[in-house]
Amino acid sequence: MKEKNILTPPLSVLLLSLALLIAACGTTDTDQLQAQDETQQNETVTDSGEEARPGRSSDSPVRFTELRHPEKVDSVLSLMTMEEKVGQLNLLSSGFAETGPVLSDEYRDMIYESKLGGVFNAHTVEHTRELQRIAVEETRLGIPLLFAFDVIHGHRTIFPVPLGESATWDPELIKKASRVAAKEASAAGLHWTFTPMIDVSPDPRWGRIVESQGEDPLLNKLFGVARIEGFQGDDLSDVHTIMATAKHFAAYGEPNAGRDYHTVDISERRLREVHLPPFKAAVEADIRTFMTAFNEYDGVPATGSDFLFNQILRDEWGFDGFVVTDYTAIMEMMPHGYARDEAHAAELSINANVDMDMMSQIFLNELPGLVEEGVVHEEQVDMAVARILDMKFELGLFDDPYRYSDYDREAETIMRDDFLELALEVAQKSIVLLKNDDDLLPLAKDHDHVAVIGPLGDNQYDLLGSWSAAGEYPDNVTLLKGIEDMVSENTRVSFAEGAELDLEGDSRDGFDEALELARKADVVIMALGEGRHMSGEAASRTSMDLPGMQQELLEEIHATGTPVVMVLMAGRPLDIRWADEHIPSIVNAWYLGTRSGDAIASVLFGDHNPGGKLTFSWPHSVGQIPNYYYAKNTGRPKDPDERYTSKYIDAPNAPLYPFGYGISYTDYDYDNLQLSTDEIDDQGSLTVTVDVTNTGDVAGDEVVQLYTRKMVASVTQPIRQLRDFEKISLEPGETQTVTFDLQAEQLYYLDQQLDPVLEPGTVRVFVGPNVEETLEAEFEVR
Ligand code: NOJ
Repeated sequence: MKEKNILTPPLSVLLLSLALLIAACGTTDTDQLQAQDETQQNETVTDSGEEARPGRSSDSPVRFTELRHPEKVDSVLSLMTMEEKVGQLNLLSSGFAETGPVLSDEYRDMIYESKLGGVFNAHTVEHTRELQRIAVEETRLGIPLLFAFDVIHGHRTIFPVPLGESATWDPELIKKASRVAAKEASAAGLHWTFTPMIDVSPDPRWGRIVESQGEDPLLNKLFGVARIEGFQGDDLSDVHTIMATAKHFAAYGEPNAGRDYHTVDISERRLREVHLPPFKAAVEADIRTFMTAFNEYDGVPATGSDFLFNQILRDEWGFDGFVVTDYTAIMEMMPHGYARDEAHAAELSINANVDMDMMSQIFLNELPGLVEEGVVHEEQVDMAVARILDMKFELGLFDDPYRYSDYDREAETIMRDDFLELALEVAQKSIVLLKNDDDLLPLAKDHDHVAVIGPLGDNQYDLLGSWSAAGEYPDNVTLLKGIEDMVSENTRVSFAEGAELDLEGDSRDGFDEALELARKADVVIMALGEGRHMSGEAASRTSMDLPGMQQELLEEIHATGTPVVMVLMAGRPLDIRWADEHIPSIVNAWYLGTRSGDAIASVLFGDHNPGGKLTFSWPHSVGQIPNYYYAKNTGRPKDPDERYTSKYIDAPNAPLYPFGYGISYTDYDYDNLQLSTDEIDDQGSLTVTVDVTNTGDVAGDEVVQLYTRKMVASVTQPIRQLRDFEKISLEPGETQTVTFDLQAEQLYYLDQQLDPVLEPGTVRVFVGPNVEETLEAEFEVR
């Protein structure tokens, strides 16, 4: 049944409204409010005793100096019992049933008892309205719930997985995609998404590389900010915007041996140089929430880390939003061997200024006792509650708790035509052409017979990729369908699965049918790769091989002599050395979401000229990992003729495809690299220009990349660091001069005391289509 009006609130809720009214009129006398609340059990919080770390100021009339709505928050907080307070810190998950999301009876009862501050995985107007109704109409204070969801690369209209989106090298485009996701999600009752994941990830064994923007700190920073701006907009009270979450703080992307959740043991230098910059930028972009990481850093689980949350996030960066834990991460401090028991875990987390407990229920159960015993200051609990209430005010939920749950808006917004158009554009621009010998691609549309072979050829389900939010796989356009819609009426398009999409799969049952088709076809398009759950959370791999019998299938189809185009779909790079040697054309197509088949077909048949570029170094083999481009030189740089230099004796040092790599149906020539000066100081800047010409026959997009290397420094520096890039479009024969303004500040690194510096000496500049094929110039820092 549709419910469009807020029901008349029960009497107890009027009390809250009155408190808010007084706050809105500028009265902050909480004693006055308390006097009206006969049921109030707690004393008004005073500023006696130690000032809590977050900066409550005892001489300010506004007690929570870092909040956006301090007076309103104060007024509500002063009415709350300790039980109601810890209820606000509790976040639990809704489950899924055939018909959509449901909340278990136990959790539903907790809303009646004011024991929940928010619910995640709850979405749809119907479901969220029902839960919100209980919270605002059936509880003493009527405080609205927050609804959160992992809207990672689309809500219902699914865009490419984040690693794929990053291959666009176009943060503005991804901001638009995030805005679409925000519109759909906010119309389905949601206030909050757990994105962006800005864990820099140099290790593709780690399955969550699929959720990242690859191995480079600058790209993770730029795409992270784009996603934040897309979801949060300029004004969080706008019903089309929702809160974003920077996750996972911190260093989650570099677990030992690429195994998910494993120990992270890296220096503070590496933490600060590689992992923290995207998170700092997220704070500067006014992100409202952070999520803790599952891993430990320097012997301390992140979820109880004073260093990460108090020292860096709050004190150094001044973050004023709230911190949510990752799933059961407070509880996990016990198996980590850091917390003695649940009470100890609660104490460690709340004192690290972690505010909301996802799934452990440890704050709920332990904090009242800890406050009573004096182990945790009540002010610390108040601060956490205040930060959460502050965001509920910011979202406008106290004005209208149902404002994001609007049936009409939900119906009008989901999968709008313009959203599907944008999904196609992003999917096309995410595709990376890895190889195209003898211009086999693009294919003619009038072949007699095109065979599509492989477990991903007519597969809708896996195209969703890791995290699919409200995405429904029957919406996805398969590769087969995309090709059928693209080719001429007279072309026969046949399909055979050939092999299973199964890590353990060893069946050859489908081989004969596939080989038969391949022999008869003019060209074979082989759709191979991983299933969507083979990357993502808890999906680390030690082998990068094509799962199951796909490699064997590929080799046998190739042996038929029919030209083969390989379309690879996966959430990570795979070991494709054999294909790189034998298959003429390789298209990397990630999981591209709702418009997958249309996008891939448009590339295969030349309607779209691919321009995507890799945001990681594609390993030659698993033994090279981690093999990121910003490595250092060592004292014995590789010399092929010298045994005692830094190299493998059974494999190259270089990746199979370098960072920034991706080819096109046209060619680009780079020329005339110029620096505006050959000398700057550490406050200066210079201009770098380069001419780029499209020397081929078709228009195309090119990503012009600028790297630098500080040749000598008091701390050794990487051999290349991406400093800037520009994506340009060029008509055949057209030349554009690309200009980069390079500020000395962009080149700062951390000295031996971890202070940012740019010391005198030579800086080499590299500009090109990827990290390996570059023009070079030099300037001096004086
Ligand atoms: C665990 C994942 O690590 C995190 O990224 C996600 O947001 C939460 N689960 C909630 O689904």
